[in-house]
Amino acid sequence: MKIGSVDLGHKQILAPLAEVSDSAFRKISKEFGAGLTFTQMVSAKGIATNNFNTLRLLAYPKSEKPIGIQILGNDEKYLYSAVKEIKQYKPDLIDLNCGCPVNKVTKYKMGAAILENPSNLGLLIKSMVKAAEDTPISAKLRLGVSSGKINILETAKAAEDNGASLLFVHTRTKADRYYDDAQWEWLAKVKSVVSIPVVGNGSIFTPKDIDKMLRQTGVDSVLVARGALGNPFIFNRYNRFVETGTDPGEPDLSEIKAVALKHLNLLAQEFGESIGVNKAKKHIIWYFKFLNGIEYLLGSIFTLRTLNEITELINSHAEKIENGEYEDEIPGKIFDRFKERVQFWLDDN
Ligand SMILES: Cc1cc2nc3c(=O)[nH]c(=O)nc-3n(C[C@H](O)[C@H](O)[C@H](O)COP(=O)(O)O)c2cc1C
Repeated sequence: MKIGSVDLGHKQILAPLAEVSDSAFRKISKEFGAGLTFTQMVSAKGIATNNFNTLRLLAYPKSEKPIGIQILGNDEKYLYSAVKEIKQYKPDLIDLNCGCPVNKVTKYKMGAAILENPSNLGLLIKSMVKAAEDTPISAKLRLGVSSGKINILETAKAAEDNGASLLFVHTRTKADRYYDDAQWEWLAKVKSVVSIPVVGNGSIFTPKDIDKMLRQTGVDSVLVARGALGNPFIFNRYNRFVETGTDPGEPDLSEIKAVALKHLNLLAQEFGESIGVNKAKKHIIWYFKFLNGIEYLLGSIFTLRTLNEITELINSHAEKIENGEYEDEIPGKIFDRFKERVQFWLDDN
């Protein structure tokens, strides 16, 4: 798939993930073969008013390109100024968030609340396109605000008619948040009403899921979100599958350990030891989520403070797994706990 002049080939996309898709995770995902990553969502108003904490979220080295920047807003003027400002950073794509379901966002009529009014959505896209000139603009949509109000065909059309170059479709409604099964069947319908590329999203956890979504729905590319948490390997596995016909399979323990340590160190470099270590904790749990001893890891990691302590924990934990020192756990139970843990970080607060 092409985004402007960038050809992703068969590579897939790492979703925008607030508090997760920082430079460390983007670098790792790119190394493992993600075709495009996103900076963390930023507020259009924050950019337009030069808020330092917003602007620093946008910074990225050239080596991270191709990269997209996602903005949150519902005011044509702020969106216009924000896109003008963002253009200086030369991203490959600027996306409007029309999917965030949390109350602190939707109460200001931003995120998924934008879906309620397709013609207003069109106006927002139009003002972004005007400011963007040759930089592609996309919208990240959900099916609608609730199961009784699915209007994805209207919102998709409104975005295309007003100049969007690409659509991301998360196949759930705002009311579903992240819980219910994704409804991929809508993707083929969206493809049939627009002619711009459509990227599918929702419950992609394995390379097989990527392949299935592409084949079943005809979308142009796939956006991987929770399936990439602790699992940047998914990108390499899918790419190898396309290139050689064989999925190399789950990474072994030594690779998981090496990538978890690398991630930890990149976060410490990016944010400094204290903040970096705290940010790394959830990632480390995600890396080890399907291996024995996850209960022990969850119970011990949150009290640790230093890079050395966490490094030691990762090393000793991996050694105990290797030596079979943990009792076997039931994978389903671990997976449920993983999902709960992700939800925990998405809670409204
Ligand atoms: C931790 C986390 C943070 C997220 N942050 C954003 C965000 O900033 N912008 C956005 O459009 N979607 C965000 N999402 C939604 C994902 O991009 C994606 O649409 C959603 O998780 C559905 O895909 P999945 O079922 O494959 O996880 C976030 C999801 C998670 C789990």
